[in-house]
Amino acid sequence: MKKVLITRRLLRSNEDKASKLWEAKLNLNDEIYSQQKIIELSKGCDGILSSITDKIDEETINKLSETIKIISNFAVGFGNIDLEAAKKRGITITNTPDVLTDATAEITILLILGAARRASEGIEYAKNSNWKWSADFLIGKQLTGARLGILGMGRIGRAVAKLAKAFGMIIHYHNRSKLSPEVDEGATYHDNIKSLFSVSDILSINCPATKETSNIINKETLEFFPKGAIITNSARGDMIDEEAILDALNRRKIYALGLDVYKGEPNLNPGYLKRKDVFILPHLGSATKETRTAMANLAIDNLDEFFKTGNCKNKVN
Ligand code: GLV
Repeated sequence: MKKVLITRRLLRSNEDKASKLWEAKLNLNDEIYSQQKIIELSKGCDGILSSITDKIDEETINKLSETIKIISNFAVGFGNIDLEAAKKRGITITNTPDVLTDATAEITILLILGAARRASEGIEYAKNSNWKWSADFLIGKQLTGARLGILGMGRIGRAVAKLAKAFGMIIHYHNRSKLSPEVDEGATYHDNIKSLFSVSDILSINCPATKETSNIINKETLEFFPKGAIITNSARGDMIDEEAILDALNRRKIYALGLDVYKGEPNLNPGYLKRKDVFILPHLGSATKETRTAMANLAIDNLDEFFKTGNCKNKVN
């Protein structure tokens, strides 16, 4: 029987499924394992089912037991794993695409609405009972007719476009390549970010974290936006230079932010916490029962397929 280290707790039905298939080493206290602990606990295992909270860097990969042939990441993103190092060691890395697209697109709409309609401030007033209705109380920005720029028109970006169209938004996007009309949701393509940002009343970040996209929102690129733009991020914190964006908020260049992901999660930049114009959530993009169940099932299926065939369709390295 194969042996698999599952680094974090999964939903019960998923843990049951894994335990039927293999000798599954579960993390019953759901502690976040150190790199050392991952190395030790995975000794003698055939694979690891990892989560985004595990930083599996080059050093960790090089110290993993020879028996480990696959790391199945319980996420669509895989920035927590050094793909090159894994490739060198002959370790297959897999992810969980598609199944979390709708949930992540839904949270993106929540971020857009939360930022545009001043939800953080509204919640504070409502909780403190210190408000009175008036014609100009907490006036926000309307989505109808606003231009939505989507940075990264992959599966999630396209799902965001579809939902945003229902609000009457006009969709623009930048992607490494132009999409065919069958899948572009009628959105206008921009072949560079300057062009996209300059028409984005609202920008939704939906690209993967890579060397090229690291700090793509920075002091210089923030100047491309129309004054009073909104920026939301449901992808990864790496894309935003936090000091630059806080400065842009101070100067009212940027009107508000909607954020689900951060550099250095779970510790947020204190600058965000002080502000009323930043609508924040704790990385909830895929957090619905249906989606988390489907993601873990897929992470398990990826291992199962790999053990049976030596290959896997959701391989990313
Ligand atoms: C979540 O952040 C994911 O990448 O699945």
